[in-house]
Amino acid sequence: MRNLIILIFVVYLGLLLSCKPDHATKNTEAGFIADLMEQMTVEEKIGQLVQYSSKEALTGPEVSNKAVSIVNEVKQGKVGSFINVDGAQKTYDLQKIAVDSSRLGIPLIFGYDVLHGYKTIMPVALASASSWNEKLIKEGAKVTARETASSGLHWTFAPMLDVSRDARWGRIVESCGEDPYLTSVIAKATVEGLQGTTLSDTFSVAACAKHFAGYAFAESGIDYNTTEITEQTLRDVVLPPFKACVDAGVATFMSAFNDIGGIPCSKNKELLTGVLRDEWGFDGFVVSDWNSIGELIKHGIVSNRKEATIAALEAGVDMDMEGRCYKKHLKDLIAEGIISEEALNTSVERILKIKYRLGLFEDPYRYSSIQREKNEIYKDENLEVSEQMARESIVLLKNDESILPLKAEDKKIAVIGPLANDKDVPLGSWRARAEYNSAVSLWEGLQNRIGDTKKLQFAKGCSLVDEVVNYQSILNIEEEDRSGFAEAVRIAKKADVVILAIGEHCYQTGEARSQTDITLKGLQIELFEEIYKVNKNIVVVLMNGRPLDITAINDKAKAIVETWFLGSRSGYAIADVLTGAYNPSGRLPISFPRHVGQQPLYYAKKNTGRPEKLGSKSIYQANYKDNESSPLYPFGYGLSYSKFSYSDITANKESFSKGESIQLSIKVTNDGKYDGKETVQLYIYDPVASVARPVKELKKFKQVHLRAGESKNVEFLITEDELGFWHKHGGIYAEEGEFEIMIGANSQDLVSDTIRYNN
Ligand code: BGC
Repeated sequence: MRNLIILIFVVYLGLLLSCKPDHATKNTEAGFIADLMEQMTVEEKIGQLVQYSSKEALTGPEVSNKAVSIVNEVKQGKVGSFINVDGAQKTYDLQKIAVDSSRLGIPLIFGYDVLHGYKTIMPVALASASSWNEKLIKEGAKVTARETASSGLHWTFAPMLDVSRDARWGRIVESCGEDPYLTSVIAKATVEGLQGTTLSDTFSVAACAKHFAGYAFAESGIDYNTTEITEQTLRDVVLPPFKACVDAGVATFMSAFNDIGGIPCSKNKELLTGVLRDEWGFDGFVVSDWNSIGELIKHGIVSNRKEATIAALEAGVDMDMEGRCYKKHLKDLIAEGIISEEALNTSVERILKIKYRLGLFEDPYRYSSIQREKNEIYKDENLEVSEQMARESIVLLKNDESILPLKAEDKKIAVIGPLANDKDVPLGSWRARAEYNSAVSLWEGLQNRIGDTKKLQFAKGCSLVDEVVNYQSILNIEEEDRSGFAEAVRIAKKADVVILAIGEHCYQTGEARSQTDITLKGLQIELFEEIYKVNKNIVVVLMNGRPLDITAINDKAKAIVETWFLGSRSGYAIADVLTGAYNPSGRLPISFPRHVGQQPLYYAKKNTGRPEKLGSKSIYQANYKDNESSPLYPFGYGLSYSKFSYSDITANKESFSKGESIQLSIKVTNDGKYDGKETVQLYIYDPVASVARPVKELKKFKQVHLRAGESKNVEFLITEDELGFWHKHGGIYAEEGEFEIMIGANSQDLVSDTIRYNN
């Protein structure tokens, strides 16, 4: 009898072990994961930490050219995630192998760089940041999440939150500009839009806060370069947007390529564990940037890939993106007792947790429905959100003699320029699965909106780059063909207004696209001059991914409209602004320089002991001697067809104490003839503090719609949060004393008042 019981037990145990676990049966996240992990071998656990890229779409340098059978690796449970594999069918097929043919059937997580739209392309981040409209940005992120999630993808490597202050750095286009507060507001909105209220919603995707941290501080604006960031700057400027993401519940983080103080981010335990987990309580997982673990060797911080593996895992990098370090070395390191299985378990658990929250154990194919993919992608309503974002992202920089909006008297309009009828450049870089040439060009937009096409004439004038649209060929621009000038001049001569679309090719910005020269390149200035000789009514429409030095045309152009790269519906949005159907409301999220020599340029600078004194003859001032030190157009700047005026600030009290607040109010009036939207910005200055503070820091903003002639009181509540900054001992708090409060239309045009804070 005893033998029979033992036999039954052994058979039962055998059956239990031979069956795949029923992943859906454990009803608590922790219980489910613990149960699953108990059944995993060390190799299977390591597999969860490995992310492969599809060879068809490498988004970084190839790490290994060794032929690997992906299918076999998946079957053996040696891969936990893929990047650059998308589409309902492809992800379904690969998922099926993972689920049906691997021992434990653990689903894969598919990630992709969906930065500003999957197929419906939204404005690039620098553009949408110009809208200062977090609600709309969240809407855009929701649409992006719907399309992404309908293409078999669970995870996007967005938002990119590197506070960026150097226009030479090509990735500035992916950023929200120079300000930590504005970037933090957008960070929250984007994470909320992408992830929805719960990750288990099949229309949401996991977000990834990148690049943690300081990547945009690359010295000299050279991508991947080393950084010199003080702890104060790191805490006050670089980290806040990332903290905002954690507070918004972001699922994942990406460790950056750069080093901080000589410690590359993928080895930076202080950052990845100390700040991110211990201080902020982040409970998702960290993925490396593309082979950033392997690149620890080149940084000169470890001597081989095995040491790189130890360094990265110990620092807190859970998943190795395409680096093949964890895959190759973790098993030996565990066998040798150098890395504990417990440390491995911690990372595995974090990854499984996100897979669980995405609902992948319940239904691994829930994102891979071909029917849903057909229904959801590139829908009209998605395009409408993109168009609305595009309109609000446009910044009117100049409008002499109110040349804009276009008038009924403008009987002949010449539309000229290398970008005037370009259907691809407005899609920007990191454009996921956008169809080539799928944007509405400015020329198409104007024809559509103006209707009376006899008014309009087009000439390209010159090309921006070689006609061959090749990502690599964009690097060198040696356009010398002036044969289109004559036609451009001919139509300009007869026109009442010339709309001249110039700027940059979208692949002049983006990853690895640093530049020493940020002027308008090629023949563009020459073309402008030729047109100017015959027609002074030039409206420049800029398309670009970084603040450019536009001084060559700034004085002569009557109007300048900054449109960045606006995405799928670019041309309609620009036409709406040019015709006045939409009153421009965008504000610069970044300072526009007078010269590349000013970089890095940002408004929130410190006073120094010898601050610049405008009008003073003394040479002993912090300024340039061959140019003005101020920006050409400051942070927060943007015109409207209306004019807004500000009253003095009123406060409900003069001082307040910890735990209390103070209410500030300002009357804003629309003195113009058009209804419009104003972005009221509030800055603070702590003039006497234990650490020298920036002369202005944006702390709040509000958008108000005002009809022509209308006034509204705009109110701001100030608490300690707005006045505080980071202290080495004691964290973020405000110091007692007086604070200058400045409110106005941009970082230069401000009215100010003083309040007191008692600690
Ligand atoms: C970039 C990341 C991107 C990754 C995957 C890297 O080169 O720095 O932003 O997410 O590639 O494509």
